Amino acid sequence: MNAPVPIEVLRQHLIDPEICIRCNTCEETCPIDAITHDDNNYVVKADVCNGCMACVSPCPTGAIDNWRTVLKADAYSIDEQFSWDELPAQNTTANAALDATAQANGDDETGETASGIEVDAARGSTVPPWSAAKPYVNLYTHKAPTTATVVGNYRLTDELADSDIHHIVLDFGTLPFPVLEGQSIGILPPGTTKDGKPHHARQYSLASPRDGERPRYNNVSLTVKRVTRDYQDNATDGVCSNYLCDLKKGDKVTVIGPFGSTFLMPNHPDSHLLMICTGTGSAPMRAMTEYRRRRRLKGATGKLMLFFGARTKEELPYFGPLTNLPKDFIDTNLAFSRTPGQPKRYVQDAMRERAVDIAQLLKSDGTYIYVCGLKGMEDGVLQALQEIAERNGLDWATLWPRLRREGRLHLETY
Ligand code: FAD
Ligand code: A2P
Repeated sequence: MNAPVPIEVLRQHLIDPEICIRCNTCEETCPIDAITHDDNNYVVKADVCNGCMACVSPCPTGAIDNWRTVLKADAYSIDEQFSWDELPAQNTTANAALDATAQANGDDETGETASGIEVDAARGSTVPPWSAAKPYVNLYTHKAPTTATVVGNYRLTDELADSDIHHIVLDFGTLPFPVLEGQSIGILPPGTTKDGKPHHARQYSLASPRDGERPRYNNVSLTVKRVTRDYQDNATDGVCSNYLCDLKKGDKVTVIGPFGSTFLMPNHPDSHLLMICTGTGSAPMRAMTEYRRRRRLKGATGKLMLFFGARTKEELPYFGPLTNLPKDFIDTNLAFSRTPGQPKRYVQDAMRERAVDIAQLLKSDGTYIYVCGLKGMEDGVLQALQEIAERNGLDWATLWPRLRREGRLHLETY
């Protein structure tokens, strides 16, 4: 009998630079740090990736789900991948080698070298709620984007507040642009980077519900914060956020998307929404709340509970409209961290104060949790949920994976 031929072929995991919107979700999700990025591309390290697929369903565009069969010795290095503007074609030599190997080994199938390991590494759900409507994704791409017209752009934060957050309404005219609450779109800012490449798209959550910012109009709204300081607090002018915040009525914007197939709201009318956000993380919460407000007239009965954090009341987008919503429709809890003369208060502090009511929601199978906003709050919010659960007789170690599995815990931080 012949000895099995050693497998010298790799099914290499790659990310399509033409579709990728550089949202960092894959890098965050990968349980073994196989994904990295530079200013140009997100890439996968061939020697680290074990094909566990943990990153695949959270990717909002599907750019992550690309594979090439290569001879192991010829695997694309990360430096090669950093330089790509598009994926290379499938190399036929490697495919032929794989076929030969499979035949020699007596295998029926070729090309499957992914480990098949089931990894439940994500902290939030990688599946949508069971009753969520089916989303459209990638209708418009980098290669074939669409154009929207600005029909509104106004500042949401107080003139005296430090942060400049805008509500921007984009109209698609007669072009189809079907969206769901929780989805996002990509904006392609004009101009090029220092090395002459077109700017990559920036992602923005929709702040309007599926039937439009104005019901039955083909428009969407965004909540955009002007980035004037980087994460190290150095002065900077964020390319896309400044472009968007400076747009005038009638300006044209290049749009791709829509994106996102998991951070979606349940459609059954008695489902409860527990929403926790800071700053522009309020955009999807506004979309979901507005959808429920409109639908309430048609019989939605589920509870809505919102925790919303900002530096001060003046920095909280949508403060006025939010505080005017009827108390029997939404239970709103605000947390301000920099109100003069008041102690610092974060969303998780407000959650602890309402532990009994949150625990009631956690006990219901109909509760769906959404967390959106500052990356830093994710740990604190999960910690608060754990404490609230455990103090109220719930076993978090069982509940947490169940929430994830059932599409009931959605995290989107950036
Ligand atoms: P860039 O030119 O990309 O960056 C300039 C510098 O600022 C860089 O050094 C960069 O590291 C740093 N920087 C980038 N963003 C920030 C920040 N937020 N705080 C501090 N420093 C920063 N933004 C919104 O305003 N509203 C949204 O609804 C929204 N939704 C998003 C949804 C998702 C899923 C993701 C991944 C991101 C979302 N963003 C949202 C962020 C948005 O995509 C951009 O990253 C943001 O507007 C900055 O882009 P820019 O081109 O202005 O800055
Ligand atoms: P802070 O006063 O500590 O910055 P931003 O305005 O930067 O978007 O932040 C929105 C709100 O989120 C602010 O009140 C900010 O407080 C708060 N915040 C900052 N870090 C965290 C965290 N780890 N958990 C919860 N909230 C946070």
